[in-house]
Amino acid sequence: MLVTGAAGRIGRAVLDLLADRGIAAGALVLADPGDLPADLVVEGDATDPAAVDAALKGADAVIHLAAIPTPEWEPAGKVFAVNTQSTFTVLEQAGRAGIRQACVATSQAADGLAFAARELHPAYAPVDAALPSQAEDPYALSKLVDELTAETMARRHGMSVVALRLPYVGGFDERLRDFADRCAADPGLHARGLWAYLETRDAARACVLALDVPGPGARTVLVAAPETLVPHPTEDLMRRYHPTTELRSPLPGRAVPIDLTPAAGVLGFAARFTL
Ligand SMILES: NC(=O)c1ccc[n+]([C@@H]2O[C@H](COP(=O)([O-])OP(=O)(O)OC[C@H]3O[C@@H](n4cnc5c(N)ncnc54)[C@H](O)[C@@H]3O)[C@@H](O)[C@H]2O)c1
Repeated sequence: MLVTGAAGRIGRAVLDLLADRGIAAGALVLADPGDLPADLVVEGDATDPAAVDAALKGADAVIHLAAIPTPEWEPAGKVFAVNTQSTFTVLEQAGRAGIRQACVATSQAADGLAFAARELHPAYAPVDAALPSQAEDPYALSKLVDELTAETMARRHGMSVVALRLPYVGGFDERLRDFADRCAADPGLHARGLWAYLETRDAARACVLALDVPGPGARTVLVAAPETLVPHPTEDLMRRYHPTTELRSPLPGRAVPIDLTPAAGVLGFAARFTL
């Protein structure tokens, strides 16, 4: 199995999970950190077909995580170009190599809220993959394009491609608890992310589960922990921070305002590592 972006936060967790299960893994990374639990490590750019071909050697499936994960670190054009070109290249080379199972990381930020210059509100909640995007930043746009690329490549190569819309991802051992503490004190900090999160090991497991989805076809699936990372009733939070959002069904207690039915139905996924 090929994992791109394998030296990143989620990529490392995917490699750990594959190693635990005894599944052979190839890693495509910009720079080899020297400690990846992979059978093959290829240094190269995911936008480069030759590098992707080298990394695909022996692979029967691909998890594509390589990306610039925010519009804030690089110029807008680079964020858009790297993210969309790498997703195209990885799926195209995988399809040509006969691979029929793929997972690509997209983002809840595809809804446009996270990185908009102003406060936006989802049209309705619980949100789902059909929510109209209000994207106005290059990262959100790149992830929307990635989801279209997934659909196109599924048809082009007869593949199964799951585009996983990930929420805020972090480990218990690193940024997640600290972020949760700060959001508890000031829920406005994560209002744009609808207070959703996923522990890194759960994100990795969702990626691997996505490879069991029968093809051909493409699906965009939102995943998250079932409850928010803040100790406040979700309906109160929605009324306060997203007053124009139509609540289409009850959000009892700390229920995350995301429809997790497809995550359960399509992937068989439920988070295990919750705050
Ligand atoms: N972490 C989150 O909260 C979060 C939330 C939503 C979506 N995502 C998505 O999940 C994926 C993985 O995120 P992460 O948190 O592990 O990010 P990360 O930044 O820790 O890892 C991404 C890795 O991709 C590599 N990379 C970047 N450009 C590359 C290129 N052109 N070729 C090869 N490698 C390249 C980087 O070097 C890095 O190691 C990304 O697609 C990101 O957009 C992450």
